[in-house]
Amino acid sequence: MQSPDGKITLMLDVSTGEPMYQVRFNEIPIVNSSELGILFQDFEIGKNATISSIKETEIERTWKPLWGEKAEFLDHHKGYIVEMEEKGIRYQLEFRVFNDGLGFRYHIPKQQGLTDSILILDEKTAFNLAEDFTAWWIEGNYDTYELLYTKSPVSKIGEIENDFNAHTHSTGGFPKNSAHTPLTMQAGENIFLSIHEAALVDYAGMTLLREEGHRLKANLVPWPDGVKVRTTAPLTTPWRTIQLSEKAGDLVTSSLILNLNEDNKLERTDYIEPMKYVGIWWSMHLGIETWGKEGGRHGATTENTKRYVDFASANNIRGVLVEGWNTGWESWYQEDNFDFQTAYDDFDLKAVTDYARSKGVEIIGHHETGGQVLSYEANLEAALDLYEQHGVKAIKTGYAGTMRPEGHFHQGQFMVRHHQKVVDEAAKRGIMVNIHEPIKDTGLRRTYPNLMTREGVRGMEWNAWSRGNPPNHTPTLVFTRMLSGPLDYTPGIFDLKFENFADQMTLWNELDGLETKGRMNSTLSRQLAHYVILFSPMQMAADMIENYEGHPAFEFIRQVHVDWDDTKVLDASIGEFVVMARQKGGDWFVGGITDETERKVSINLDFLGEGEYEAIVYADAEDTDYEKNPGAHTIINYQVDRAGSLDLNMKAAGGFAIHFKAK
Ligand code: NOJ
Ligand code: CA
Repeated sequence: MQSPDGKITLMLDVSTGEPMYQVRFNEIPIVNSSELGILFQDFEIGKNATISSIKETEIERTWKPLWGEKAEFLDHHKGYIVEMEEKGIRYQLEFRVFNDGLGFRYHIPKQQGLTDSILILDEKTAFNLAEDFTAWWIEGNYDTYELLYTKSPVSKIGEIENDFNAHTHSTGGFPKNSAHTPLTMQAGENIFLSIHEAALVDYAGMTLLREEGHRLKANLVPWPDGVKVRTTAPLTTPWRTIQLSEKAGDLVTSSLILNLNEDNKLERTDYIEPMKYVGIWWSMHLGIETWGKEGGRHGATTENTKRYVDFASANNIRGVLVEGWNTGWESWYQEDNFDFQTAYDDFDLKAVTDYARSKGVEIIGHHETGGQVLSYEANLEAALDLYEQHGVKAIKTGYAGTMRPEGHFHQGQFMVRHHQKVVDEAAKRGIMVNIHEPIKDTGLRRTYPNLMTREGVRGMEWNAWSRGNPPNHTPTLVFTRMLSGPLDYTPGIFDLKFENFADQMTLWNELDGLETKGRMNSTLSRQLAHYVILFSPMQMAADMIENYEGHPAFEFIRQVHVDWDDTKVLDASIGEFVVMARQKGGDWFVGGITDETERKVSINLDFLGEGEYEAIVYADAEDTDYEKNPGAHTIINYQVDRAGSLDLNMKAAGGFAIHFKAK
């Protein structure tokens, strides 16, 4: 099997009865002979198979997302459906080979001899890497993606501890020598790859188990009883995907994951609207205000929310997130503590939503569950009805904590089903969803475009109450976590040394003060660059609004878009630096970020359209120092056109952000 451009070759060999596949890219072996198959409770596929027929197709078509990194995507692939037979069971292996990678999945049709309830005990899919490639990985923790990445040979996955990750909550139970997907690797100077999955629907999330050497195998996140997937025929598994590219940046602009998802299934989409938002949020993470009412420092008051609405309305920000308006926050660890409908007595949902409407602002609702899924499901419809009645058309959900009922994991099938239910119920009421502590993203935003964004990343909050995210974190996320989809990282902290409210900050989180009360490892210009680089159709300006008032650099956030016509990676090295450009109409925005190394980059402006542009450049200043003087920056205007170039300097943990306006 081959990609349309012939660069990727996929071979399937069933001569021994065990279907085995191999992958080559530009003639170079990437995946050596590797198993395919599934172990069910009552039978097994992938042991004694024969091929009955092969159907080949070639598809070339474009499709338009409702929102995204581009206005139009190209789906050009060769498809192969291999009909298999094994001990009287019929199934299909389906392969699609694109120029930017490949996917394959299993289908088991309804047929005689299969019971109604089918249990999967193990998926045998393996990725027997041709060599010990360099990988950027996080442990395959069944409960969290809020981890810092380690760069090492694949053979060291699980063997290197990063003590920054030490405090992560987890119920454990996952194999130490395993990694989450997307698992991004470099296989040579000009070969990059990433293993992930697409269209994870009613199945368990897949982590990658490192077996001997650099052989990886699918490891499905289990139910409490050890079963991996509870299903019935017909059964279609998620796609197992391998993105392949000659440049690191081409992984970022690959549309493989979206192309392997189905088209939009929502009938009604008029309410779906990408937006920037501010919120009653950072003040709680810094310990200045609280979610609950205890201690007299409640953040989500009617008055405070109106102040945020006023700010949003005056600053081209569409949404205001309100956390901590509903009761239950004082008793987080008690069962059924969260009441999704009762407001604290200093918060009036009707008054706030009426006021927001009058100002052209959307209130973003919040449902923190603390991981209590059954309690949330019991209240889900009424809780969403309440928001719908008040015209709230976006919610943020949260699953911070260990899953209850106990024994379930954030990445298991139980949660895959749960999130789908929330997205479906929200869609019925015209509500968009932003999930925190989510199931991983596998591109379902194409099919359910009200599923806007999600966390599933060690985001900004960690800077408020831990040693912070090191400077190489976001330059790594672009090539790892971001390959799966949008991330609600929540950029935009301007008070980088936490000076403005220092006298009001308290320790509240159990990680708080362990080493220090939080810290940002970033310059101001880099905060701006994140709006271009970290794609999210709901993008937060995360700082307290007081820290934005009157700040000249806030103009960039006012102007930046969150939904794009085009995206380009101009220059990059995984984990070291990235320069990206995104276009919306006559506007281009460019962002650059670097790790701890100061770097100069020269940007060729040939991506711009014809004619003159005004370029407003926000950059690190001579005296910018991310530890001592992170806020120092320059804002300079230039007249440029596509024949020119711009030279920029990024200080350590720094960056730059440019707004190009067509004249
Ligand atoms: C963790 C989420 O990531 C954060 O954004 C939220 O503020 C807290 N949980 C409280 O819900
Ligand atoms: Ca979180």
